[in-house]
Amino acid sequence: MAFPDTRLRRLRRTAALRGLVRETDLSPAHLISPMFIASSGAAIALMPGVSRLAIEDAVREAGELVALGIPATILFGIPDEKDADGSGAWDDDGIVQLATRAIKAAHPELLVVTDLCLCEYTSHGHCGVLTTDGRVDNDASLELLARTAVSQARAGADVIAPSDMMDGRVGAIRAELDADGFAETPIMAYSAKFASAFYGPFREAAGSAPAFGDRRGYQMDPANAREALREVELDIAEGADIVLVKPALPYLDVIRAVRELTRLPLAAYNVGGEYAMVKFAAAAGALDERQTVLETLTAIRRAGADMIITYHAKDAAGWIAQ
Ligand code: PBG
Ligand code: ZN
Repeated sequence: MAFPDTRLRRLRRTAALRGLVRETDLSPAHLISPMFIASSGAAIALMPGVSRLAIEDAVREAGELVALGIPATILFGIPDEKDADGSGAWDDDGIVQLATRAIKAAHPELLVVTDLCLCEYTSHGHCGVLTTDGRVDNDASLELLARTAVSQARAGADVIAPSDMMDGRVGAIRAELDADGFAETPIMAYSAKFASAFYGPFREAAGSAPAFGDRRGYQMDPANAREALREVELDIAEGADIVLVKPALPYLDVIRAVRELTRLPLAAYNVGGEYAMVKFAAAAGALDERQTVLETLTAIRRAGADMIITYHAKDAAGWIAQ
């Protein structure tokens, strides 16, 4: 039936009618709020409203997340010292391990997801160790990543989230976790992680820009969607419990395609550059921040994401509750 018998505006007439027919919901229960942990706090200029947190401040922030109904945080560590192998990553007294223990002790109900990568810990800033001729050595990096996963799990991490994009790392991490008594610790795999300009603000925050070259030898080409599905299939075969697409907004088609490919839970990472665009445009008066954020997060959910890692989590949770 066409117009005038069919009038789609009938169901848009009031807020109650719109609520009744809304297809996508957005609640704090879908959000994961990142934290950058360092030995001392500092504002992050390119991500207004986000700061590096000392451990006691991270514990306080964890309490705020619980109060807002946000179920999880994802931790990034910024160590004071870096070396060629990124040994700070698997130090049982490393910055993420200490923060994980402190947060779980104070707020056991908050899920702690630990980002697992070497780039914040390596002096050269790459996500794996280097060969003598300066290439990222895939297979040599696997052992270090697996060792880091066990150290994070031992510290109390609820979910391990490898973001390095080495081939075979999910299988290597799963095997090592199982061998060390952590068979029940799930892996959230950054499966389709694209080599993106939108990571710029994060690299300022984490001090993890590569000292030479770029990450295109291991992160995905933004032009490729079929290949993203191959990455997801491989991670599932290796034992991933949750798969992730990153960034989110420029890759909504990939989120949708992964949603249709698998029954696994799907996460999307609304990254620092996406956050910065909204914050700077809102500060300039070009966008209404609240509406823009809620529309963006709803769109990521509509594309098929079950959960969203986003720097807007606290603001969004507050706005949703109003
Ligand atoms: C480290 C890592 C990055 C992000 C999450 N984990 C940066 C990178 O790959 O350079 C990006 C997060 C963001 O941009 O907000 N492997
Ligand atoms: Zn990395």
